[in-house]
Amino acid sequence: MNGLLFFFAVSLALACFCKATLFTNVSQLTKSNYDFVIVGAGAAGSVLANRLTENPSFSVLVIEAGVTNEGVLDIEVPFLAPGNLPMSSVTWNFTTTPQQNLDDRVLTYPRGRVLGGSSSINFMVYTRGSDEEYDRWAKLTENSGWAWENVAQYYFKSSRLVPPVDGRNITGEVNPSDHGNGPILVSVPGMPSEIDDRVFTTSKESGSEFPFSLDWQSGNAVGVGALQSTAGGGVRSSAATAYLQPVLNRTNLDVLIQTTVTRVISNGKSGGKPVFNKVEMAANAASKRFTVTASKEVILSAGSIGTPQILMLSGIGNCTTLKTLDIDCEIDLPDVGEHLQDHPLMSAYFTVDSNNTFDDLLRNATILDAALEQWMSNHSGILANAPGNAIAFLRLPSNDSIFKTFADPTAGPNSPHFEFIFAASDGYGGSVVPQPATGHFLTFQVVVVSPLSRGNLKLNNTDPFDFPIINPNFFDSEFDQAVMVGAVRAARRFVEAAPWKGFVTGLFGVVNSANTDEEIIAASRQSIVTIWHPTSTARMSPKDASFGVTDPDLLVKGAEGLRIVDASIFPVIPAGHPVAAMYIIAERASDLIKNSWA
Ligand SMILES: Cc1cc2nc3c(=O)[nH]c(=O)nc-3n(C[C@H](O)[C@H](O)[C@H](O)COP(=O)(O)OP(=O)(O)OC[C@H]3O[C@@H](n4cnc5c(N)ncnc54)[C@H](O)[C@@H]3O)c2cc1C
Ligand SMILES: *[C@@H]1O[C@H](CO)[C@@H](O)[C@H](O)[C@H]1NC(C)=O
Ligand SMILES: *[C@@H]1O[C@H](CO)[C@@H](O)[C@H](O)[C@H]1NC(C)=O
Ligand SMILES: *[C@@H]1O[C@H](CO)[C@@H](O)[C@H](O)[C@H]1NC(C)=O
Ligand SMILES: *[C@@H]1O[C@H](CO)[C@@H](O)[C@H](O)[C@H]1NC(C)=O
Ligand SMILES: *[C@@H]1O[C@H](CO)[C@@H](O)[C@H](O)[C@H]1NC(C)=O
Ligand SMILES: *[C@@H]1O[C@H](CO)[C@@H](O)[C@H](O)[C@H]1NC(C)=O
Ligand SMILES: *[C@@H]1O[C@H](CO)[C@@H](O)[C@H](O)[C@H]1NC(C)=O
Ligand SMILES: *[C@@H]1O[C@H](CO)[C@@H](O)[C@H](O)[C@H]1NC(C)=O
Ligand SMILES: *[C@@H]1O[C@H](CO)[C@@H](O)[C@H](O)[C@H]1NC(C)=O
Ligand SMILES: *[C@@H]1O[C@H](CO)[C@@H](O)[C@H](O)[C@H]1NC(C)=O
Repeated sequence: MNGLLFFFAVSLALACFCKATLFTNVSQLTKSNYDFVIVGAGAAGSVLANRLTENPSFSVLVIEAGVTNEGVLDIEVPFLAPGNLPMSSVTWNFTTTPQQNLDDRVLTYPRGRVLGGSSSINFMVYTRGSDEEYDRWAKLTENSGWAWENVAQYYFKSSRLVPPVDGRNITGEVNPSDHGNGPILVSVPGMPSEIDDRVFTTSKESGSEFPFSLDWQSGNAVGVGALQSTAGGGVRSSAATAYLQPVLNRTNLDVLIQTTVTRVISNGKSGGKPVFNKVEMAANAASKRFTVTASKEVILSAGSIGTPQILMLSGIGNCTTLKTLDIDCEIDLPDVGEHLQDHPLMSAYFTVDSNNTFDDLLRNATILDAALEQWMSNHSGILANAPGNAIAFLRLPSNDSIFKTFADPTAGPNSPHFEFIFAASDGYGGSVVPQPATGHFLTFQVVVVSPLSRGNLKLNNTDPFDFPIINPNFFDSEFDQAVMVGAVRAARRFVEAAPWKGFVTGLFGVVNSANTDEEIIAASRQSIVTIWHPTSTARMSPKDASFGVTDPDLLVKGAEGLRIVDASIFPVIPAGHPVAAMYIIAERASDLIKNSWA
C-alpha cells in the first residue's frame, strides 16, 4: 500500500471507529450497568463525558434524545445559526404559555436536541461574567468552592483564544492574558462590519457613560467591546466538537443518541434516602422502555427544561402538585421547576445611509449563495462570523429613580443591568416583525440581563414525550420594565454621538417610535422575545437549607446517587451569556465527582 492510500485507509478506519461508538438504539448497548450514567449530551453533559472518562477505570454511558451534530451545515456555519437553527430538526420545539405581561403572546422557546445540546445551536456569544457573579453564588450557597478565586482554574481549563479568520493583528481588541488553554475555541470577528469603528469610537469618546472594555473575560463585565464567539477557523466550536467528539474512541465511553430518558427510578435506600440508580428510556412514546443502572451516580444534564421535567416524572418535586397528577412522590422538593429566570430581548432599529449592511445578504439569495460558496471553499468571509461584531453591557445610572423602590439586583458594580448586541442589519434572531423589503438598518438588540421576574415550569401530564408547561413570566417585575426603558434611552443617546452623524438617518420600528416611558413599555410588550437563557429551575442552595434542589456539591437533596450538572442549578442567572459559566461549572463538577470516587 502506498503512503497516501495508507493515510486514507487509516482516516477511514478512524472515522468508522468514531461512528461505531455512537449507538442509535438501546439494543446495541453491550451492557446494562455503568459507573456513571449521564442524561443529556449538551454543554454540561459533554464536558462530564470527557473529564470522567479521563479515568480509565470509570465506565460512562451518555444518553441523548437528539441526533448527531455531524454534517449539519447550519450548526457549523456561524452566520446561519440565528436564521436557521431555532425551531429546527435539531431543537426541542418548546413554546411558552401566553405571557401575561407581553400582551398574551406565546413565544417560541427552542433548546438544542442534538449532541452538544444548546451549545450546538446557540449564537456563540462568549462572556464568562464578572468575578462578582461567582462570589455571589458562593454567598448564596454558603460554599466558597464557587467563589471566583476557586473556579478561575476551571475557566482557564475550558477555553482558549484563537486568531480571527482574517488573521489580522488583534492588539487592542482583546486581552490574550484573560484567556486559557482549554478545548472550546474563542475568537473575535474575522471580518469587520460597517459599524464596528463607530461603536468603539463612540465608547472611547463618551467618557464614563459607555466605557470601553478590552476583554469580556477580564472579571469586569461592564463596557463596550468586540464580541467574542465560540468559534475557531470560521466554524462553530461546541461542547460536541470540543469535548465529546475527540474522546468518542475511548473504550470506557458509550454514547447513545436518539433515545429519550423518561425518568430515574429509585432502588432501595441508603442512610434513609432513596437511591436513584436506574435510568429509564425509550426511543419514542410508542416504543418499549428500557433501563440501565449506574453503580456510582446518575447525573442529570438535560438542561433547564429537561432536568426539572425528569425530576418531576421521577417523583421529585412539590408533592402536593405531583399527587394531583397521580405521581408517587419520593422526595418533596417544591423548588423543582420554580424560580425560572431568563433574559428578555427586543430590537430597537435605526435607518442608516449605507449600502454595506447585512440587509441585502439577508434578503437576497444570490448574495447569500456567493457567501456560502466562499465559506465552503475556506471557511472565510461574512458567514464565518456571527451576525454581530460588538456588544455592550451597561448599568443604569446610580441615581435612576427605580432604585428608590428596588434594591440593585446585580452582583456588584462590575455587573451590568442591560446589554446591547449591535448588528449592521435589521437585527437577527430577535425580530417579531418581518424584514422590510428595502432599506438599510442598524439594530440594537436590547437585553435585560438583571431581571427580577421569576417564572416556572410544570408538568402538563405524566407522558414524558409531552412538553412541560413553560412560563418564563417575562416583564413581570417593574424593575425589568425600568431597565428596558433606561436601555432604550441609552441606545438613542449612543447614536447621537459624533461617529454616527450622517450615518444614522432616523428611528425605525415600534420601539423607536415610542417616546414616553409608558409608550416604551407598551412597545416592549409587543416586541420582547427571549435570548434563550433559562436557568435556575433546580437551583442549588446551602447544604442544610430547606429550599433549593441540590446542595453545593450538586447532589439532589434527600436522594442518594443523583447529581445535577446543567444550567438548572444556577442559584441566580448571571448577567451575561451563560454557556461560559456552564463550562466552568461542568469542569468543576467533574473534579467534584472524580474526587468523591477517588
Ligand atoms: C437559540 C439559543 C441561543 C443561545 N445563544 C447563546 C449565546 O449566544 N451564548 C451563550 O452563552 N448562551 C446561549 N444560549 C444558552 C446556552 O446555549 C445554554 O445556556 C447552555 O447550552 C445550557 O447548557 P445545558 O447543559 O444546561 O443544556 P443544553 O446545552 O441545552 O443540553 C441539554 C441536553 O440534554 C438533552 N436532553 C434533554 N432532555 C432529555 C431527555 N429526557 N433524555 C435525553 N436527553 C435529554 C437535550 O437534547 C440536550 O442535548 C442560547 C440558547 C439557545 C437555545
Ligand atoms: C431497535 O432495535 C430493535 C432490535 O433490533 C428493533 O426491534 C427496534 O425497532 C429498534 N428501534 C428503533 C427505534 O429503531
Ligand atoms: C421543529 O419544528 C420544525 C419546524 O416546524 C420542524 O421542521 C422540526 O422537525 C421540528 N423538530 C423536531 C425535533 O420535531
Ligand atoms: C500588533 O500591533 C501592536 C500594536 O499596534 C504591535 O505592538 C505588535 O507588534 C503587533 N503584532 C504583530 C504580530 O505584528
Ligand atoms: C483517540 O483518538 C485520538 C485522536 O485521534 C488519539 O490521540 C487517542 O490516542 C485515541 N484514544 C484511544 C483510546 O484510542
Ligand atoms: C406546592 O404546590 C401547591 C399547589 O400546587 C402550592 O399551594 C404550594 O405552595 C407549593 N408548595 C411550596 C412549598 O411551594
Ligand atoms: C446606495 O445605493 C443607492 C442605489 O444604488 C445609491 O443611490 C446611494 O447613493 C448609495 N448610498 C451610499 C451611502 O453609497
Ligand atoms: C440580488 O443580488 C444580485 C447580486 O448583487 C443582484 O444582481 C440582484 O439584482 C439582486 N436581486 C434582487 C431581487 O435585488
Ligand atoms: C478564501 O477564499 C476567498 C475566495 O473564495 C478568497 O478571496 C480569500 O482570500 C480566501 N481566504 C483565505 C484565508 O484563504
Ligand atoms: C442623575 O445624575 C446625572 C449626572 O449627575 C444628572 O444629569 C441626571 O439628571 C440625574 N438624574 C436623575 C433622575 O436625578
Ligand atoms: C397540555 O395538555 C392539553 C390536553 O392534552 C393540551 O391541549 C395542551 O396543548 C398541552 N399543553 C402543552 C404546553 O403541551
